[in-house]
Amino acid sequence: MIDVAVLPTWLDAAALADAQVVVLDVLRASSTIVTALAHGAAEVRLFANPEAVRTARQAWPAAEAQAITGGERGCLKISGFDLGNSPAEYTPDVVSGATVLLSTTNGTRAALAVRGARDIYIGCLLNAEATAATLLANLDRGHTLLVAAGTDGKVALEDLLGAGAILWHILESTYRADLALTDTAWLAYHAFGAVKKRLPAALRLGAGGQNLIRAGLESDLDRCAALNSQPIVAQAHGDPPRVMRSQK
Ligand code: MLT
Repeated sequence: MIDVAVLPTWLDAAALADAQVVVLDVLRASSTIVTALAHGAAEVRLFANPEAVRTARQAWPAAEAQAITGGERGCLKISGFDLGNSPAEYTPDVVSGATVLLSTTNGTRAALAVRGARDIYIGCLLNAEATAATLLANLDRGHTLLVAAGTDGKVALEDLLGAGAILWHILESTYRADLALTDTAWLAYHAFGAVKKRLPAALRLGAGGQNLIRAGLESDLDRCAALNSQPIVAQAHGDPPRVMRSQK
């Protein structure tokens, strides 16, 4: 079965152990994680709150590669952190070879909510096709769950569009009539199909896009709308989740 959980609270915890899961926070945590890895970060570690990031940074062994703190609260950089949550900040000269210690309001928490799943990926519009290709190889092994982070417990348009983009690429590549999609998965698929030629405009219309515009971060909407511009697979392992580029 292929399903979309429109919020982490919609998850059927019992289905997780036998599932490949994609966590989507298109604006912006997933897009930032994927950009950091595409630009050479060794890994991105995910934390529920800024205090946990600070603790990890303080305990960081001097012998290890550089640790960079990143994340946001209220869309803005957390006091004392190196970077905020804009993909634009995670350039190759800043992140190459480094480990990013990241905490965001909804995205990193959604990733923490799916711990225990068989395979966990971080997805967004930037890596939709690459993520779909990885899921395709395992569609017959248990469930496939696309989990939208949402915003403060509310469904977020952009996360459903990200889930729909992945489903679009899956269905584009396979003509199997036996693939069972839930109605929520079909909704995400059709929502993406309706706006796939005007994603930057669509992101501007949702509440998450409006929040970023109000915070003076409108250019991030274009970055996060760039479909398949970072064709990597981002896979999370362990607790706290460590996200790395998968070679699959
Ligand atoms: C989040 O995790 O809530 C988002 O990534 C917020 C943001 O856009 O900075």
